[in-house]
Amino acid sequence: MKKILITSALPYANGPLHIGHIAGAYLPADIYTRYQKLRGRNAIHICGTDEHGVAITIRADKEGKSPREIVDFYHERIKEDFRLMRIEFDNFSRTSLPIHHETAKKFFLKLYENGYINRKEVEQYYCPKCKRFLPDRYVEGTCPHCGYDRARGDQCDNCGRWLEPKELINPRCAICGTTPVLKKSFHYYLALSKLAPSLEKWLNSKKDYWKPEVIGLALSWVREGLKDRAITRDLEWGVPVPLKEAQGKVLYVWFDAPIGYISSTKEWAIKKGDPDLWKEWWLDKENTRLIHFIGKDNIVFHAIVWPSMLIGHGDYVLPDNVPANYYLNLEGSKISTSRNWAIWIKDLASLYPADYIRFGLTYFMPETKDSDFTFADFRERVNNELVNNFGNFINRTLSFIAKYLNGRVGPLVEKGSDEDAEILSMIEKAPYELGELIDNFNFRKGIIYLMNLSDRGNRYFDRMAPWKTRKTDLNRTRRTLSICYALIRTLSVLIEPYLPDSALDIRKMIRSDVRDWESAGSWSIPDEVEIDKPRVLYKKVEEEKIEIGEKEEKKVEEKTEFIKFDDFKKLKIRIGKIVSAEKVEDADRLLKLLVDIGEKKITLLAGIAQYYSPDELIGKEVPVLVNLEHRKIRGVVSEGMMLAADEDGRPILLHPEREVKPGSEVR
Ligand code: 2FM
Ligand code: ZN
Repeated sequence: MKKILITSALPYANGPLHIGHIAGAYLPADIYTRYQKLRGRNAIHICGTDEHGVAITIRADKEGKSPREIVDFYHERIKEDFRLMRIEFDNFSRTSLPIHHETAKKFFLKLYENGYINRKEVEQYYCPKCKRFLPDRYVEGTCPHCGYDRARGDQCDNCGRWLEPKELINPRCAICGTTPVLKKSFHYYLALSKLAPSLEKWLNSKKDYWKPEVIGLALSWVREGLKDRAITRDLEWGVPVPLKEAQGKVLYVWFDAPIGYISSTKEWAIKKGDPDLWKEWWLDKENTRLIHFIGKDNIVFHAIVWPSMLIGHGDYVLPDNVPANYYLNLEGSKISTSRNWAIWIKDLASLYPADYIRFGLTYFMPETKDSDFTFADFRERVNNELVNNFGNFINRTLSFIAKYLNGRVGPLVEKGSDEDAEILSMIEKAPYELGELIDNFNFRKGIIYLMNLSDRGNRYFDRMAPWKTRKTDLNRTRRTLSICYALIRTLSVLIEPYLPDSALDIRKMIRSDVRDWESAGSWSIPDEVEIDKPRVLYKKVEEEKIEIGEKEEKKVEEKTEFIKFDDFKKLKIRIGKIVSAEKVEDADRLLKLLVDIGEKKITLLAGIAQYYSPDELIGKEVPVLVNLEHRKIRGVVSEGMMLAADEDGRPILLHPEREVKPGSEVR
């Protein structure tokens, strides 16, 4: 069986976690891991705190504490934040542990022996006022690539590029603001230029299945040309460089941190009583899928630097995927910890149960673009979806069972009428359809899919009106409620990766011990079952106040890239009439449409099968982009694209206000 080695970015032990951290990396990683485990796959989730580097020492300087005090405190605090969010790890380690120092030193030496690390004499910034060398973030200035004026000496927060202090325009010391001077020193450089061809080849093999934004960024950086980069620093805090001549130097934090994934796995193996077990994960290139969950500021390190290090080292598996998320903004402004424009997990968790927060953060997860968290939207989603839809379906079903059927339902063995069979078929498909979404890192679509299931359950309940039939036909009532019960049992498993506490509560109430993914697709209730006394799962959330700091004046603008009218004119959009529609074999989401666009009929593939049935499409008119490059999917050539509105990932078809001639131009 394949092993799935899941990691999430090691958080710096220099502050507590906020909603941006959770929505960016840890919640998707946790959902993904829980799902894989429920599906019976061999998966582990590895993490730990990132305890070195200037992020830590700057914090220590500011608070007048030692780096050790800082990391000891925040390691515990971060663990507590994860506990509050029910984010679980198979191991949560620390990069200041001896096991990590050793692993990182060995890694360095192997690269050194393999000829991928070179010593260079350099000039480096030194602050005459602070009387010290200024590595990384100790220098700030203007980004030479994008002009952002608060770029740090290690990375630009605006364009994401990896920088060196000397590249900054108008550099200043981050502690005292003085313009630094250059002094001689020497450092060790990772030979990225030499590794670039292998890296590019490897990246090219990811084109088909990585998130387009991640692979696009990575390839564009490689094509810009990779320069060798210094991976050592003149600092006291960190992993000492394992060479005699390099006394007083430590490894650059971004060199040692990803190695933390390996050392944390080693620690896990030791705790399991089988110290060599980590090798089955990191050395088995054939059978391990390594997946790194990160935020977008980490892309350069996980898609360029770390894979280059792994290629140069040679022994370890390379990442199979790096499903990076974008940023979560807060009320229209970028989260800023320094201005306290952030919602800290501890504060939020003091107001709402973990599942409400997990639900809200999944809904606003920045999967394909930056997204915005507002309290008003959060309340609205929780109240409308979690409470009024999902919770209500469970609550009304179980209350009816308790009230009118003495708490008993089943047996349920036949599919029965069309209306019943529709719900039962939906149950059969659900684990596979939802599984496909989660396997492809579509976590938002997954939660929307689940809400859609309970919505259909509610509509079924309304149509079957058990409050009426209970007076006329008790058998019918029992059947209706048994079907609703079966759907709840399915939901109690499928919701678990997202809302683990709710899953447990629901299973308790319905007295079900079904917990594995495949069984969640079965609806039969062979014998009568008795449920527990129903309890209301969720309460509406009211307006609450959390004190947050000031937002930056400048709103985060949705970056609109303007295009020329001539470019727009290149798009040929026509009204097409759908002549026929059918499902595509082995592709649950695709419909194959034949569309009349006036001069001819063309074939289109549309990913709408979960939302529209073939029958309801025939005869409908829709806008079609007819001069899009043809694409072959599952053996079918799609000759264009049907345009539709995207409402939270759900396609909504568009139709002309009155019927028009097929082929009419849209402009
Ligand atoms: O950005 C950060 O918070 C880093 N500490 C992430 C490190 S990820 C990994 F490489 F360890
Ligand atoms: Zn920049």
